[in-house]
Formats: sequence, C-alpha cells, structure tokens
Amino acid sequence: MKLIPLAWVRCLTPALRPLRVAVDGGWLRGSDLDACLGVVHPLLNVQRVMAQVLERRWVADDMLALTLHANGHWRGARPGQHLQLYLEVDGVRLSRSYSLTACNADGRLEIAVQRKDGGRVSALLVELLAVGDTVEIGAVAGALHWPSQSPGVLLLAAGSGITALLGVLREALAQGFSAPVTLLHYVRTPGQRAFGELLEQLQQRYTNVQVHAVFTDPACKAADGTAHGRFAAAHLDQLGVTAVDQVLACGPAGFVERVSAWAQIAGLGEALQVEAFTPPRLPTVQDARQAVSLRFARSRQQATGDNQRSLLEQAEAHGLRPAFGCRQGICASCTCLLLGGAVRDLRSGAVLREPGQPIRLCVSAPVGDVEIDL
Ligand code: FES
Repeated sequence: MKLIPLAWVRCLTPALRPLRVAVDGGWLRGSDLDACLGVVHPLLNVQRVMAQVLERRWVADDMLALTLHANGHWRGARPGQHLQLYLEVDGVRLSRSYSLTACNADGRLEIAVQRKDGGRVSALLVELLAVGDTVEIGAVAGALHWPSQSPGVLLLAAGSGITALLGVLREALAQGFSAPVTLLHYVRTPGQRAFGELLEQLQQRYTNVQVHAVFTDPACKAADGTAHGRFAAAHLDQLGVTAVDQVLACGPAGFVERVSAWAQIAGLGEALQVEAFTPPRLPTVQDARQAVSLRFARSRQQATGDNQRSLLEQAEAHGLRPAFGCRQGICASCTCLLLGGAVRDLRSGAVLREPGQPIRLCVSAPVGDVEIDL
C-alpha cells in the first residue's frame, strides 16, 4: 500500500532523523517504527536503504536490467562501483553484489542480473521480482574509475563483467571523453552479448569508440572473422588495437588473471585496473591437514571440521545457512564474531585470535578448535 508518492518519501527522509536518534539510543525499536512507516509507503523507514523496481528490461538472453529508485537514505555511488542487494529466502538473509550500469543524482539507478543455473538470488530477481516490488540495498564498494587524462583506453570484459565497464564508459562519454576507446566483450554466444544494442548505439554516436564482441564458443564464428576464443594478446593485433595507455578489465577470476599476466608482459601492469566477480583462488593453507572442533554458539551445534577450508564452507557443510554475498571477503555479509580459538585469514595468512573480534567466514579457516557466534 502507498499512501504517499515516492517523491514525498525522499523529501520526508531528513524529518526522520530524530527517530533515528531514538533508535540508536535504544529508546525506540527500529523494527516497530519501520512497521508503522511501511504502512505509509513500503520505502519509508528509519534508516535502511530501500528501492522500488521501476523497470525490467532484458538486455541479453540471460541478463535482465533492473531500474531501481532508492529512498532518501541512499547516499549515491559512482558508475563502476557495485552494491549489495539483500533478499530474504526461507528465513535466510542473502545478498549478492551487482555493478551499477547507471546511476543518477535523483536516486534512480540501474543494475543487471545474470540468470545462473541454481542461483538462488538471481532466480528470484529474474523470475519473481516485479515492477513496484521493493528490495534492500546495502554497502556500495569498488574503486574502478575512468582514467580521464588517458590518450587511449582499452576495456576488456568477459560475460557479465560488461556491467561494471558499461557504467564507467557511459559516464566518461557523457562527460566528453574524446580519446580512443576500444571495448572487447568476451561472451560464449551472440545471445549472451549483454547491452549489445546499446553498445552499438554508443559506437555510432561517438566516433572515438570501437566495440568488438569476441565469442568463446567454438561453434560461433566472429562477425568480422578475426578474434575468437578466450582472451589472448593476439586478439589486439587482429582487431587493430593500438595506442593503449590504460586498461580496465572485469570478468571471472580466470579471465582477470589472464589479462593481468598479459599486462605485466606488455609493460601495462601499472596502467591496469581489474575487477573479478568470482572469488579468486585463495592460497592453500600450508599447515598439515588437521581435524578441529567447530562450535557454532547461537545454533548450539558442535561439529568436526578441518584447518584447510573456510568457516563458511564448513558451516554450510554442516547444514547451517550463514548469510553471505561475495564469498571473497569484500562485502562483509558473512561477518560473525569469533568467540574462542583462532582463525587464519586465507588472503593474508594473518592469524586472528582476539575473542569478540569480527571475522569474515568466507575467508577465515580455523587454526585449531574454534567457537563462533553463529
Ligand atoms: S560473503 Fe562477502 S565477505 Fe564473506
């Protein structure tokens, strides 16, 4: 039910500040207030960033663009950054990270969701989320930015990695960037070429922009008969890409690793910005495999685990359903308190053993017996 229009919700936000102070001070319960405010408009609440779906638009066979309008708690973001989207599934709060393909100062923003086989969140967003529905938005992160002084920019995207690069490209062109830009988009088949129509339009409108689709499925030949298959340095010669000064790459971890290896050899290591949207391979724990006792305090469960795998994997293997998002230590969705014992940060190797310390389950492996607040 909506008793007031969304524009009023955004205007009313500053007036909610005293209520937020009362909630922070423990005098009022935020959930009670949100329930009352939600009667007026589903996006009206004390402090959560909520957004309404304005439009659904298929931009590839397997990718849906969602235009959202956020409430007044939204603090804005830059194209190229990614945000957390929260949904509750079977009583478990899930989150996933999506790149912003566009965002406006009035709270309108666009993300694109790729349908994945077996993906719990993507299936809900793609199949069930309707125009008018609301979703919760969490933290915004990401440092990808346009190199505005560059005399030549190369954009390398694989699959849904195009979403992050499209955001920064659109903004740069709108702000008058006029040096050569070449975009190579690696996709398995032509049907998976997300935002292909929009990219063609950009190429026609801006003479400094060249867009190439590279198909990795052996059955799909390139339209221009040149580059084909996974990223290789030879593709740049085949497509006549020269005068590259800065490189932005986004895609699965394996793609980003290949691009990074090429950039080092080409002397472009310093000029490369990358973003991987699948978890990087975490270094193997060097300690000998050892059985450890895992105590999950809130669930009142105890189990035997090992010192090699992340606590997130091990909790899931024992039937628990911790919240998670990125599974690579970025989004903080899986953060939980360490109550006893020690864990190793799988990215840095650092050992954390302070009781009460927050740890990220997806990148923490037990060093010995541990107790966590899960
Ligand atoms: S799931 Fe994102 S930090 Fe662990």
